[in-house]
This record gives sequence, C-alpha cells and structure tokens, in this order.
Amino acid sequence: MKQQPAREQRLFDQDWHFYKGDISIPYAVKGGMTGGITDCGSLQEGEWLDIAFNDKGMEHQQLEWASVGLPHDWCIEQQYVHDDLLGSRDGSHGYLPGGTGFYRKTFEIPAEGLGRKWNIRFDGVSGVSTVWVNGHLIGEHRGGYIGFSYDLSDVLRYGDEGKNVILVKVDATEPEGWWYEGCGIYRHVWLEQTHLLHVGEFGTVITTPEVSREQAVVNVRTILCNEGTQSETLELVTEIYDADGQAVGSAVDRIFAGSYGERKQEQQIVVEQPKLWSTDTPYLYRAVSLVKLDGETVDRYETVFGIRTIRFDANEGFFLNGEPLLIKGTCNHQDFAGVGVALPDSLIEYKLKLLQEMGSNAYRSAHHPPTPELLAACDRIGMLVMDENRKLDSSPNGLSQLKRMLYRDRNHPSVIIWNLENEEVLEGTVMGARILKTLADTTRKIDPTRPVSAALNHGWNEGGYSEVVDIVGYNYGQRNNLDIRDHEQYPERVMIGSESASYTTTRGIYEDDPVRGYCSEYGTNVPSWGCSPERAWSDVAQNRFLTGVFLWTGFDYRGEPTPYRWPCINSHFGIMDTCGFPKDSYYYMQAVWTDEPMVHLFPHWTWNGAEGRVIEVRVFSNTETVELILNGRSLGEQQVNRTAHLSWDVGYEPGELIAVGKIGGKPVTRKVAVTAGQAAGIRLYPDRSRAVADGADTVPVRVAVVDGQGNIVPTADNEVRFEVEGAGILLGVGNGNPSSHEPDKATVRRAFNGWCLALVQASAEAGPVTVRAVSTGLASAEVVLQISKPSI
Ligand code: GAL
Repeated sequence: MKQQPAREQRLFDQDWHFYKGDISIPYAVKGGMTGGITDCGSLQEGEWLDIAFNDKGMEHQQLEWASVGLPHDWCIEQQYVHDDLLGSRDGSHGYLPGGTGFYRKTFEIPAEGLGRKWNIRFDGVSGVSTVWVNGHLIGEHRGGYIGFSYDLSDVLRYGDEGKNVILVKVDATEPEGWWYEGCGIYRHVWLEQTHLLHVGEFGTVITTPEVSREQAVVNVRTILCNEGTQSETLELVTEIYDADGQAVGSAVDRIFAGSYGERKQEQQIVVEQPKLWSTDTPYLYRAVSLVKLDGETVDRYETVFGIRTIRFDANEGFFLNGEPLLIKGTCNHQDFAGVGVALPDSLIEYKLKLLQEMGSNAYRSAHHPPTPELLAACDRIGMLVMDENRKLDSSPNGLSQLKRMLYRDRNHPSVIIWNLENEEVLEGTVMGARILKTLADTTRKIDPTRPVSAALNHGWNEGGYSEVVDIVGYNYGQRNNLDIRDHEQYPERVMIGSESASYTTTRGIYEDDPVRGYCSEYGTNVPSWGCSPERAWSDVAQNRFLTGVFLWTGFDYRGEPTPYRWPCINSHFGIMDTCGFPKDSYYYMQAVWTDEPMVHLFPHWTWNGAEGRVIEVRVFSNTETVELILNGRSLGEQQVNRTAHLSWDVGYEPGELIAVGKIGGKPVTRKVAVTAGQAAGIRLYPDRSRAVADGADTVPVRVAVVDGQGNIVPTADNEVRFEVEGAGILLGVGNGNPSSHEPDKATVRRAFNGWCLALVQASAEAGPVTVRAVSTGLASAEVVLQISKPSI
C-alpha cells in the first residue's frame, strides 16, 4: 500500500458546478443515501445534474449547472434591481438580489485513504449553508464570516467504492449585516487528511511570555488528538525556524495519548537574540510540530508566529515592543470591484498594499472576522489588525463563532485587539453588559495576551458597559468632543478611535449632485455623525490618549449607499473608491501618515468654459511650505500645517497649475495639474508585469483615458472594451462610479472621471497574456504580462 503523507491539505477550490435557484431537498429521510442530486449513486456523471427532489419525490428537472471555481460570489453576477423591499436584501446590500444557490462537485479518494481522518474546511460561505456528502446530510452552518469544518471520514468512498459527491446549498435570502455581503462560497475550501493521531484543528497556541532584546521565551501549547481505539505513547518534537529557515530552538517530549482522547502539551523554547515583529520589520518565525510514533513522523503541522510585545496605556496610547506607536487605521469591508466578496488572495494583498502606501499601519476588519489569508498577509507586511467578532451574541451560535475566531487567529502577531461588538443596540444597558462580559471572559480565557474592546456609538458611561472591556472604542467620538470629555471624567479608561470620519466623497467630483448621487471631494455633503479626515486625525495627533483612529473606510464598498440611495449602489465613505483609485483625501492621509515629501493639489484643472471663475484650490503636503504657480506666475507661498489643508482662490484659466513643496526654502516635490484636451488614447498601468501560473493570481490593470499629449482627461467616461488573450482571463472590471449599473463581470466598462480597472487573472499554465484596451475614437493600448510557474 502506498505510503500516505503525514498530513495533506488540498485546496478544494476547482471544478465545482453551480446552480442558481432553489431545489427542494428533504432535510433528512433516513440517515444517509437520500439520493437525487445529493449523491450520484449508480448514475453516470452528467445524469445526476438533472435529477432532484421536488415535493412529489425524485424527478428529472432540466437544471442548468455552470462550471465555477472558488472563491465565488454569485451576487455580483446579477443585475441591479431598484426595489427597496427586494426580499430583505434591499438597497443596503447594493440593490443586488440574494436568493439561493447550489454547489456540487465530484471527487475521488484513493483506497489508501481508508483509515485516515478526512476533514473538509470551508473558510467562509455567505448565507446559511447545508452540506451533503454522498447522500448524507453532514451539517448546517449559519454565520457568513467564520469558517466551519466537517469530518467526512465515515461517509467518503475509498478507491473502488466509487466517486464522491459533495453538495452545498447556500440560502442567502436573509442578510446578516447592513452592507454588501455577497452570496455563496466566497472563501477557500480545503480538504485535509491526517493520521488518526494528529495535531488538532488550530491546534497550537504560541505565546511569548518573556521578550527582551537578548532572548524570548516561546511557549508552545500543542493540542494532540488521538482518534484511534489504541492508546499511544508518542513523541512531540517542536522546532522553531527563523525567516531564513535556520533552526533556532527545539523541544522534545514523550506523551501518553489515551484512545479517543485529547492531550494538551506545553513546551518552552528559548530563542536567543530574537528579531522582533513590528510594522517596519514584520519578522516571522515558524514552529514545526512533529508527532512521532515509533520513530515515524505521523503528523507535521506548521505555525507561523512573531515575537513582539504590546501594551495599551490610558494616557499614552499603544506601545509596540516598548515603543509608542500611533494607530493609523482604516475600517474595511471585504469587497472589491470586479469580484464582489470573492477576492483572490492577491487582491486581498493588493488592497493592503494600497492602504500601506497611504501610510496606514492598522486594519479593522469591520464588522466580522476576516478571511485567514488577510491575516497572513498582515503578518507578512506589518499591518496591525483589530480582529472583530460579528455580534453581541452569547447564544451557543454566537459563542461558537467567537471561539472559532479566537482559536483560528490567536497566533497572528498582527492581531493586537479582539473587538467584540460594534454599535449594538444594547450598549449602555445592564443586559448588554452581561452579554459583553460573557464574550470578554470567553476571550480572555482563550487568549489572555490581547486586550478586548467594544466599538460603541452610545452608552459609554451607562450600565457598567464600558467597564467590561479593556479598551473602550469611540465610534465618531469627536461629536461634542465626547471622547475628550470622557477622558477627563474617566482618566483610567483606555480609549481608541474605533471608527471615525464617514467622509462621503466621490472620486473626481467637485460639486454635489443629488440626481446622479455624487458627493463633492470638498466634503460638502458629510453625514451628521461624520467629519473630515482632517478633524478625525487632528484629534488623535493632539490627544495621545485616543491611541489612534480607524477611519470609516479605506475603500468604498458596495451597499449602504449614503447619503443618496438609488441610483447609488455603493457607499461613498472610502478614502479610495471600489477599484482602489485614490480620492483627494487619500493624499491628506499620506501627508500626515508618511514622511517622504509629497504634495497634492485639487481639483483637476480642466474646466472648459469656466474661464474667469474663481476655484478654490486645496493642497495637502508634509513639506514646510508650498508655492502655487499658475502658468508660470506665483500665486503665493504658504506655510504648511501638516494636519490641515492649504487653500488658494484661483481665477480659472487653462494651462498648468503646479504645487511646489519646499523644505528649507528648496523645492523637494511637486504636483502638476494640466488642462487636458480631447480624449485621444488609452494608457494601461498594470500593478505588476508578472504573475504566478496558479489559476488564481490576479493583476489589477489601471486604465486611463488620455489626451493627445498623454494627460489624463479627468472627466472622460469613454467605454473601453478589453481583449485578453493567452495565459490569463479577464476576471472582472470596475470604475469606482457609485451609481454605475454596468456589470462587473463583463468585457466592457466606461471610464469614470478618467479611469477604469481591469482585473486579469493568470491561468494555471505559464506563458504571456496580452491585455488590449479598445475604445471607439481612441488609440488603443496593449500590455503583455508574463505568467510563470513559481520557482521551487
Ligand atoms: C457606523 C457603522 C458602520 C457604518 C457607518 C456609516 O455607525 O458602524 O457600519 O454604517 O456608521 O457611517
């Protein structure tokens, strides 16, 4: 018999069939073998696709199954419907219907797999899911933001026993939140096999109780499961490797593991001269746990971790490795242009990269736990995370979701706070405080190394609510300066700006437009609870006890259209739009959050027919002074106050407007706005020229409409058609227009204020992929990306 690997984790994302619609399936008739589409039984592949139960029994139906890969979001594939009472997924979900869908996949398990443990893990399914395997009802899961796993060992068919069928029903009719949530299996699925004696799921807990520059004590608790009938004496070897793959410490223990039992083993390993994880140097170590039986390795489990210390102080805020660090954060939902919530891992990293380039060092995964790949990326790039529980809910389901988040995420160095709720109705009540206390106690028991917080928008000082958590979150605390007043009244309270700004602006728009649903970038249409990023950040810069801020939001997201609804289908809160194109306030954040000299001016300088009109020109910079120059004439030099904008009133004349940033009187940086001519061509700006041939890696290609001189035409809305040939596909398109009803799964997209975006996904085969952009009356453009196999 073929030797099985110690542990195998197989990505289970490919070769699914998808049916959009409902199929009636009896919940359970007998224990197993309910037949129909939940199994293939004796049927040939293909035949089963038409067979389903209805209320009269099993019958043939002509069901249309599409071939899909995961991650998948069927919501984004649908058409917008203007109906505020669309089921219960109204405008707050972006006017895209939910509904029900089915996923089905056949797969084979080798004969040698018999006698091992087979576990399937779904990282996230949006909607209530029900899973059948080979006709057996396996489980139902509610909660779209946390994963779930099922042991399939009994119900699988091994070798000659036949093929296996998995069927997943996703009922996405009911919303869980008030933002776009997508529909379907939108995160990865994994099939994992292990020996009966193995490290449990999320089965290591790594803490660093003592850290100094000289050495770190690394505590590794390993949860060992023996699912066999025999008690065993095993050897647990834990080895620690540095980022270069050098072993830096290890521990060995002999352990008795009783049959059908679970054992926890503590090991302490000292790492000399540890390299600390920080936002500037996100250094990672790897712990390898080896389970050995009679000298043979029967399980091998890896955990990535970091060595760092965190501390929060009521007066001085946050300390990372003993150094004070202001939290420069954004809150974010999950979605992105072209893909809905089904982001390939590389797009998750792209979003984080854009935030980091803006100077942000922290991410709040509002309002739920993020996908595991996001945390892994934050560990790698040095982005702090406020990891968030979905709801104030101590019911069995609520607690189980919270616990899974904690078990899953507690080894990530990036995670610095567990946020247990957001703006719940029961804030400031005694019942709310009881529920919150249960969540806080549960959290502290599972992870005593990080503080717990709650993100409140009312009830801070009532019902004993704030006393239950370690850090009190202030959502929009700048209203009436209540955060500052609370600090005076409760000087021992550790506070954080858990949510702020909600600054509603539309990229490239300089006048509010209620008909089209656009908000000016001057910030003249901000909701009553919101404020400008300037106000939000100035408060933090002046009051260290606020610890930092999480701006609402880094990116526009689908749903929650505010202040307008239809035709708006997405929010305007982002510092970037849904494609990741910066709005003007992006540059304010860069001015206060980064030190590389920069200057930005707005609005654009193409106002045909507005000659002589006085336009307010605003400038953000982190230099000492800025001089504004119009067509070679100085309009004056102003002193920079880094936390505020500069402003000039300028009579419009076409030409060239330049902001020159100076330090010590010398020009160090400049931004030029040129009056653009007629749209004449297209420019393509791929984020990278190479991608990995894994069928998933995705390269965002920014598409600009330019005039004959190559200047961006800031009002252009030309329709661009994309042709992608070779080793890749067009995954989706977008343009950041919050009122666009064009489909994101399409080969054409209009530009919005000069820009649109194409997402090009690598195929599984290496080779070049050509991306061509064509538009009537414009010179077309082409780029070639190289898709290659990863070097081993
Ligand atoms: C907050 C809330 C967010 C979002 C935001 C809009 O109160 O936590 O989810 O709704 O307001 O301004």
